[in-house]
Amino acid sequence: MKVNKLIYYSDYKKKGDTGVYFLSNEPDNFKDNYIEEMRQHLYKNDGFSGKLLEIEYFKLARDHNPNRVILVGMGNKKMLSSDELREAVTKIIKKAKILKSKNIDFNIPKIENEEKLKKIIRIISEKSVLSNYEFSKYKKNKEHSISETRIVLENRISKELNESVKEGYILGESNILSRNLVNEPANILDPQELSKKVEYLGKQYGFEVEVLNEKQIESLNMNAYLSVAEGSTKPPRFIVMKYLKNKQQKNRTIGLVGKGVTYDSGGLSIKESDSMLNSKYDMAGAAAVIGTMTAISKMNLRVNVVAVVAACESMLSGNSYKPGDIVYTMSGKSVYIENTDAEGRLTLADAIHYIIEKEKVDKIIDIATLTGAVIKILGNAATGVVSNNDEFYKELENASRESGEKIWRLPIFEDYRKALEANDADITNRSGNPTTITAAMFIEEFVQDKAWIHMDIAGTALYTKNSKLGKGSTGVGVTILYHLIKEFSSDLLK
Ligand code: BES
Ligand code: MN
Ligand code: ZN
Repeated sequence: MKVNKLIYYSDYKKKGDTGVYFLSNEPDNFKDNYIEEMRQHLYKNDGFSGKLLEIEYFKLARDHNPNRVILVGMGNKKMLSSDELREAVTKIIKKAKILKSKNIDFNIPKIENEEKLKKIIRIISEKSVLSNYEFSKYKKNKEHSISETRIVLENRISKELNESVKEGYILGESNILSRNLVNEPANILDPQELSKKVEYLGKQYGFEVEVLNEKQIESLNMNAYLSVAEGSTKPPRFIVMKYLKNKQQKNRTIGLVGKGVTYDSGGLSIKESDSMLNSKYDMAGAAAVIGTMTAISKMNLRVNVVAVVAACESMLSGNSYKPGDIVYTMSGKSVYIENTDAEGRLTLADAIHYIIEKEKVDKIIDIATLTGAVIKILGNAATGVVSNNDEFYKELENASRESGEKIWRLPIFEDYRKALEANDADITNRSGNPTTITAAMFIEEFVQDKAWIHMDIAGTALYTKNSKLGKGSTGVGVTILYHLIKEFSSDLLK
C-alpha cells in the first residue's frame, strides 16, 4: 500500500532513501553538502546540464540519507509546466523502482503562487501513485513497489495543501481502479462479475447501486442492447450508480454513460483474430465512469450524478443477432443492423434513453471505445469529442486542462446525417464516413434536448506498444470527468 504525505523542511528529520531535486540551468547550491558536491561533479564532468526533462541519478554511501538522488532538469524555468511535471514524475518513479527505492522525497522549489503550488502537489501525488502501478495479479514475479512518497516544501503555507495531496492520491487510486477493471481479462470480468464489483464499490464508498438482470432489461424494451448480448452465454447486466448529494438542486443531475462491452468479438461480422486481442478493453468507458464515481464519492463532492453501464458480451452463436436484422430500441426508434460489430452504439442508445427517462438527468456524457477510426484522426494522443452544446464542451476543455487528458472536438455537420439512413428502418447502425462522427451522430439521435458530450476513447484507452509511460489500460476518463463534475459542484455552491 502506498502513502503520500506533505512535509515542511523544518520538520524534515528522517529523510527518505531517495531524494528528487528539480534543477534549472543555473541551480542554487544545495543545502546538503554532499549532494551539492555530486551535483557540481555531474555538471563539470558528466555533461548533465539541467536541460528540460533531463533526468540523472547517482547513489551515495549507504549511511547517507537520501542515498539515491534523482535530478530533474527544468531548463531555464523556475518550475515545470503541468504536462512536463506529469511526464517527469512518471519517469522519476520508473527510475526509483529500478533503484529499489522505498521512500521518495520530492523537494519542491520555492513557489509563491498558492494555486500553482496546489496543482503541482496534486500532480505529484496523483502521478506517483499511478506510476507505481503494475497489473501483476497473474504474475509470479512482481516489480518492486515504492511505499511512500513525500512532498517536501521549504516554507509553511497553508493547511489546504494537504487537501491537494489527498485529492491527487484519490485520483491516482481511482484511475488505478479503472485500469484494473480494464486489464482484467474477459474470462474473469464478464457482465455479472463487473456488476458485483460495482455493488461492492458502492457499499465501500457510499453510492447507491442497482443492477438489472436480463428479464428486467427485457421488460424495459431495451432490445438494441439485448440483441448485442444475445449471442453470449454470459447474461447482460444493466448497472445503475447513483450519487445524489445536492438536495437543493434536485433537478440538476449529470448523467454518465459508459460503454461496457466486456468482450467485443464483432459478433457474426467477426473481427480478425489479431484485433480480438484487444477486445477485452471494450469496457474502458464503463471503467472510466466507475472510477469517476469512486473519486467523487471519496472527495465528497456536492453534486448529483447518475452513471449507467449496459454491460454485455458480444459473441457468436445460434442466438446471435445478424446483419440484416431490424431491432427496436427502448426509445421506439427502429435500427437496421448492417454490421454486428457496430455494437457499442446500440448499447449506448438504450442506456441513454434509460438515463433520460428514468433518472431525469439534464446533462449527458457518454464515454466509449467506439470507433477504430478515431485513431486515424487523432492517434493515441487525444480523445475525440463530439458535442451538441458549446458551453458544456467548454467546461470539458477546462477539465482537460486540469487533468492533462487531451481532447479534440469533431464537428456535427448536417451533411453527414445522410449516412444514418436505412432502407427499411429509422436508422442504420453502420454509418458511413467519417465513422467517428457518424457513430456519434447515431448516439445523438437518442439524447433528445439534453446537453450532451460524447467521448470516443478508442485511441486513448490503451498505452501503445512502445510507450515509455506504461502498458495496458491508461484509465483514461477518470480524471477529466472528475474535474468536469467538480466544476459543477463549485458552481452550485456559489
Ligand atoms: N470497439 C470497437 C471499436 C474499436 C476498434 C476500439 C479498435 C478500439 C480499437 C467497435 O465496437 C467497433 O467494432 N467499431 C467498428 C465499427 C464499424 C463496424 C462500423 C470500427 O470502428 O471499425
Ligand atoms: Mn465492435
Ligand atoms: Zn466495440
